[in-house]
Amino acid sequence: MSNTNSKKTILTGDRSTGKLHIGHLLGSLQNRVRLQEEYNQFILIANVQALSDNFDNPQKVKNSIVELLKDYYAVGIDFEKSHIVIQSEVPQIHEMFVYFSNFVSVQQVAQNPTVKQEMKTKEGFEKSTPLGFFFYPIHQVADILSVRADLVPVGKDQLPMIEETRDIAQKFDATYNSNIFNLPEALLGVERNVPGIDGNEKMGKSLNNAIYLSDSEEELRKKVFSVYTDPTRVRATDIGHIEGNVAFTYHDLFNSNLDEVQDLKDRYTKGQVGDVEVKEKLFQAMNEYLTPIREKRNEAESKVDQLLNLTMEGTKVAKNRASETLDMMKEVMMIKF
Ligand code: TRP
Repeated sequence: MSNTNSKKTILTGDRSTGKLHIGHLLGSLQNRVRLQEEYNQFILIANVQALSDNFDNPQKVKNSIVELLKDYYAVGIDFEKSHIVIQSEVPQIHEMFVYFSNFVSVQQVAQNPTVKQEMKTKEGFEKSTPLGFFFYPIHQVADILSVRADLVPVGKDQLPMIEETRDIAQKFDATYNSNIFNLPEALLGVERNVPGIDGNEKMGKSLNNAIYLSDSEEELRKKVFSVYTDPTRVRATDIGHIEGNVAFTYHDLFNSNLDEVQDLKDRYTKGQVGDVEVKEKLFQAMNEYLTPIREKRNEAESKVDQLLNLTMEGTKVAKNRASETLDMMKEVMMIKF
């Protein structure tokens, strides 16, 4: 048996605001399955953070937790290797947040590019920003530092949060002359942008352009046949373009038959193949790729209680570690009685 203590610690997280899609699969889930073998991995279901922009929809935030668990199981995350953690069950994170917030200025938080970007997409948030939403990056710092993570696998949009984490950890230890935190590093996955089926460069729940891991074969077929291709091409005999063509982007990502993909591309750019053939072959390839995941996800339906139990075990591990971290922090801040 490997010794957990000698392994480096990873913390990653998902807001519980919906199901996971093929963008998550290539961007982070496959990475987690790989990393759980070598690292002490915590996967945080950030339901408190999810409330920061969904406080008026608690039912969605709650229901999404089980959807995430099924998605994790479906892709091969092993609940006994990775610790799955429900954020609201680790109140130490909130307490740490209060102490960490002494080390960052309001002006600095206001400059976070990811928050600025997100604010634009939330109705009314630019004019009147909920304080809970404004400070969530610092709350996320507490997520990461609570388990004293070494590595944080994230997408590019989360880099400002990791920078903030390093900055705060450093300032905290420097101020109290302590040595509690490692400076966590971001671990960027292989950058593979998975566009939405509508051609939008990002796939997202709110954009209504996602292919979910839970989609049935029929749903998959419908979505594949509606993907954005080449708007300048009216007839199959017109010269087609590959660049920005979602059907071909997906072929590159999911079709392992490279000769077939090359042949389709050659004929497409010469006006010798119709969209129907391109999409039918894409559907076949994606369905082959996603069927084992879909089957495991169906299997998970009957295992929800078991998955929830294991999640509570994982949460306990995180909570113990957070409690240890918090004790050390209170000690050096001279507020431990
Ligand atoms: N903000 C992350 C996202 O939207 C989710 C998250 C919450 C997270 N806490 C985290 C990611 C801690 C990494 C580490 O995707």
